[in-house]
Amino acid sequence: MRMIDLIAKKRDKKALTAEEFDFIAQGAAKGTVPDYQLSAFLMACFLNPLSDKETALFTKAMAHSGGRLDFSDIKMPKTDKHSTGGVGDGISLALAPLVACMDVAVPMMSGRGLGHTGGTLDKLESMKNFEVRVPVKLIRRQIQKLGVCMFGQTQDLAPADKKLYSLRDATSTVESRPLIVASILSKKYAEGVDSLLMDVKYGSGAFMEKLEDSRKLARALVSTAKLLGLKCRALITYMDQPLGRAIGNGNEMLQTIRILKGEKDLAPDFYELLLETAAHMLVISGKQKDAAKARKLLEEKIDNGEAIAKLRELIKWQGASPLAVDDPEKYFKPAKLKVQFTAPQNGYVAHIDAKLCGQASVLLGAGRNRMEDAIDYGAGIWLDKKGGDSVKKGDVVATLYASDKERLNAGLELFAKAVKFSKAKPKPYKIVKEIIK
Ligand code: URA
Repeated sequence: MRMIDLIAKKRDKKALTAEEFDFIAQGAAKGTVPDYQLSAFLMACFLNPLSDKETALFTKAMAHSGGRLDFSDIKMPKTDKHSTGGVGDGISLALAPLVACMDVAVPMMSGRGLGHTGGTLDKLESMKNFEVRVPVKLIRRQIQKLGVCMFGQTQDLAPADKKLYSLRDATSTVESRPLIVASILSKKYAEGVDSLLMDVKYGSGAFMEKLEDSRKLARALVSTAKLLGLKCRALITYMDQPLGRAIGNGNEMLQTIRILKGEKDLAPDFYELLLETAAHMLVISGKQKDAAKARKLLEEKIDNGEAIAKLRELIKWQGASPLAVDDPEKYFKPAKLKVQFTAPQNGYVAHIDAKLCGQASVLLGAGRNRMEDAIDYGAGIWLDKKGGDSVKKGDVVATLYASDKERLNAGLELFAKAVKFSKAKPKPYKIVKEIIK
């Protein structure tokens, strides 16, 4: 087989076979196909999108380009969720231990933040010594004993995606739905789970801003996952305003710990998404039949302290101090400089733009523009008010944290553009817009 012929085939809108996709994925993983040919192939796929069948074949080929975690000796159902990313979306930090309390194994492979969106690994690393590079042997052991492990992508899992994703980034071919589906699902398939919940966000802070685009992506993810033999559902969720109150890494860990310790009213939108996501994970895993009943059982796990105890164990297993849970306010100290953003008028917070907030948090030091940029774990934003809250002139709407004055001022200037006020109460919004089965 010659790569040049496969590029020509896709250029000419012809369908590729399973063997041909295998050749490409193996070539990307092993370095036997040069970058310039892989790049040309990606552009051909961008211009002549893969069919549903081709998408499934390519996903499978990429998933098989490396090893797959094998948990077949663990009798519990194995599940995970994937979020397309957003601002303040620290759900995974609470979700993984919560679901693991229900005798469902959660091997959760996560990524890092880039641009205005945050990443679970960075949030976990706000805890000193928390180890996200977990060798496969230890992931297995931890899943057996604790039921949950949170880790980063290893060299061996879906290596074709690692190569192709970086080439897509450099060749303006990221925004191709079939390539996105193959990229996301190849990694999740390699985790060895048997069910997968997708959280596909829409709105200014989301990967897909338009609801209709998110819907199309969600449908494609669900149907392709099923072709791979994974039980799958997608929630389409709101990301036009940030989720929860915290944006930033230590900040988001602190919020998670407070919520799992029972402060349910701290961030009602975060709590709602946490329970809905967890409930649907239990349903697709086969552990529960009914999402409403699953929600009740999950709430009990928070109320009786099991969920926070599981998070505490997880933190200990992965090398950080359980003091993070025992005394979070002391452990997650914000950066030393702060500024308060106050309401200029009586009325309501009409809207807080998610993307601008995410970008402001990068300016404060909480995120990165390039993968190699360092992160300030204490930097970030705490939203004292959320969209829909009433305010009086001078009320604190948000508190911003940074380690130097320049960053603080830059973050504040942009954050001020994110917040809109109104005289009339704005319409409430739903966090979970639709469920795609
Ligand atoms: N996230 C991924 O993992 N891959 C994509 O292609 C897009 C988002």
